[in-house]
Amino acid sequence: MASITLDHIGKNYTPEVTVIRDLTFDIRDGEFMVFVGPSGCGKSTVLRMIAGLESITSGTMKIGERVVNDVHPKDRDIAMVFQSYALYPHMTVYDNIAFGLQIRKIPEDEIKRRVQEAADTLGLNAFLDRKPKALSGGQRQRVALGRAIVRNPSVFLFDEPLSNLDAELRVHMRAELSKLQRKLKTTTVYVTHDQVEAMTMGHRIAVLRPCGSDPKVSNLTQVGTPMEIYDTPANLFTAGFMGTPKMNLLKARLSDDGHDVLFYGVRMPVSAPFKAAAQKYRGKDVILGIRPEHVGAAHEVDWKGDCAVSGPVEILEPLGHEVLVYFDVQGTTLAGRLRSHQALPGPGETISMVVQTEAMHLFDPATEQRLA
Ligand SMILES: Nc1ncnc2c1ncn2[C@@H]1O[C@H](COP(=O)(O)OP(=O)(O)O)[C@@H](O)[C@H]1O
Ligand SMILES: [Mg+2]
Repeated sequence: MASITLDHIGKNYTPEVTVIRDLTFDIRDGEFMVFVGPSGCGKSTVLRMIAGLESITSGTMKIGERVVNDVHPKDRDIAMVFQSYALYPHMTVYDNIAFGLQIRKIPEDEIKRRVQEAADTLGLNAFLDRKPKALSGGQRQRVALGRAIVRNPSVFLFDEPLSNLDAELRVHMRAELSKLQRKLKTTTVYVTHDQVEAMTMGHRIAVLRPCGSDPKVSNLTQVGTPMEIYDTPANLFTAGFMGTPKMNLLKARLSDDGHDVLFYGVRMPVSAPFKAAAQKYRGKDVILGIRPEHVGAAHEVDWKGDCAVSGPVEILEPLGHEVLVYFDVQGTTLAGRLRSHQALPGPGETISMVVQTEAMHLFDPATEQRLA
């Protein structure tokens, strides 16, 4: 087992274009770390640098205590699983799983024992004699996992391994993979653009974004546990990226005494965590963030210190267990949640909603950072 240390890691594919800038953080021994971010932000590039499949332009990468910048991939003791399972079509499941051990000249009875153990763990016993084409997508993905597990590596690297599976199987495999990692306790880095996977699977999440051309901007926006990231997003990017539907992000202003947030004619008392910071922003513009689950129907919720907002309904999205409502407040769309399907207003009809003020987030519009 091993920790992974990224120290000011940078990557240029060409001299002009920086893809990764100034990545600094640790992945702990035995941790399940998820890299999440939009497509093209550099997640696979970082993973491939950890694997040694891509050179590192600047900075230092360590696995355990060893600097691995110039260590060959095969000497890093890692196993990687890709979105495309990359199984050998002419080999049986057994041989696909065993292959990596065979080329390492591991004794045949040891290979047999390890493949059997992996097959037990992954529920592949009935399929060991089959070829990949006679397997479902989920079974193939499990074979790819088996191939990684039998190596008993210090680190697992996963690059969007569930993206090719249908929705139901993804949910199932998501749970299976989490269970497997908790059982094996192998340090794991898991790349996904899917924030639900990030929230549900990781011990911690690193939220990444494209670093662009500004030499001061890193790809890393925040590292934390899923709930830290959800409850206290450090900046506007994380706030907008994590959560479905997205957090409402509204132009607002602090009152001259710094006690209230003003937006669209609504006055909302500043919540406790922001009270001190708000004093520095008296009379200034801020961005107010409110998650849709903190915008409820006036007749359905009874929140302490709630604050009324109303406006015409734009769209209703009944999801079964709840209804998402998008309504207009002076030209801006707000998303909220209704608990009941009963007596829903029609499009254009005014709906009376309330905001749970305690759950507010405030950001600086210039730096895009959280105020507290
Ligand atoms: N081999 C390469 N040569 C040049 N540019 C590349 C190469 N691989 C990836 N890139 C670019 O680097 C950026 C990050 O890519 P990638 O790490 O694959 O992102 P992600 O996995 O987050 O979708 C993208 O803009 C991509 O076009
Ligand atoms: Mg990728």
